[in-house]
Amino acid sequence: MFDECVEHLRLATNGGRIRPVVTVFAPDTARRRGPRIRNDQLVRYAGWHTSELGRIGDPITVGVTREAERLGWRAARTDFDVLPLIIEDPDGSRMCRGLPDDAVLQVPLSHPTLPWFADLGLRWYAVPALANMDLVIGGITYGCAPFSGWYMGTEIGARNLADVERYDMLPTVGRRLGLNMSSARTLWRDRALVELNIAVLHSFEHAGVDMTDHHTESERFLAHLAAEKRQGRSTPGDWSWLVPPMSGALSPVFHRYYDRDERCPAFVPRGVGCPAHRD
Ligand code: ARG
Repeated sequence: MFDECVEHLRLATNGGRIRPVVTVFAPDTARRRGPRIRNDQLVRYAGWHTSELGRIGDPITVGVTREAERLGWRAARTDFDVLPLIIEDPDGSRMCRGLPDDAVLQVPLSHPTLPWFADLGLRWYAVPALANMDLVIGGITYGCAPFSGWYMGTEIGARNLADVERYDMLPTVGRRLGLNMSSARTLWRDRALVELNIAVLHSFEHAGVDMTDHHTESERFLAHLAAEKRQGRSTPGDWSWLVPPMSGALSPVFHRYYDRDERCPAFVPRGVGCPAHRD
């Protein structure tokens, strides 16, 4: 399974010309639970938050980082240590192994016009590969079916690096920009957010790694909705997931509502079951 996950990343990464990939492992059956991956994505940065260490890395992975260290992983403890994979057997035993460096493409972040930005030492990985969702098809639950696409810039620039509960970089960027941070009303956060997102899009492009932006993707999504409608099909969705996490009203996706019914087959959060058979 570990080797297949590595192969998944290599196929998906494709030298930066990202390919969507899903790897489907054995499903749960009535007799035997299937295997599980403990990490929420195949690639993630480790995180620590303790009184001795302070805050290091990505707070979202504190739990799985602790588990990896308990299983023998020795981390460098930088802000961007790629976590090892933790794979759980149907019988509950766990193995922990580090991904080979050459299977994890990463992009160092720089800004097209702000030379100091590169000194922040920020980076992100190329392939978002969700590993902890259930794939539900025809009454079968595949509890281990990692799947990946390519990133939209805002996932990294407006959430992973910006959220206060994640890398919380806006105060640092705001200070380096020399913004007046004395009041929320100077909109220093908003200005820092735009520059951070410019850096993300610029850096991926510069590195030759596929990434979409929220304007392009919103247009494409509405074109998709129109095409489906012409075929007489409805397109349910969740407004809060569809509207980008910055510049909401600049996106045509903002200016309408979506049906909320759920469909099957589907990827669903672990354990919630088939959306078509839920109340
Ligand atoms: N938002 C998640 C992240 O920042 C990834 C979710 C999947 N995204 C995607 N573009 N396929 O890591």
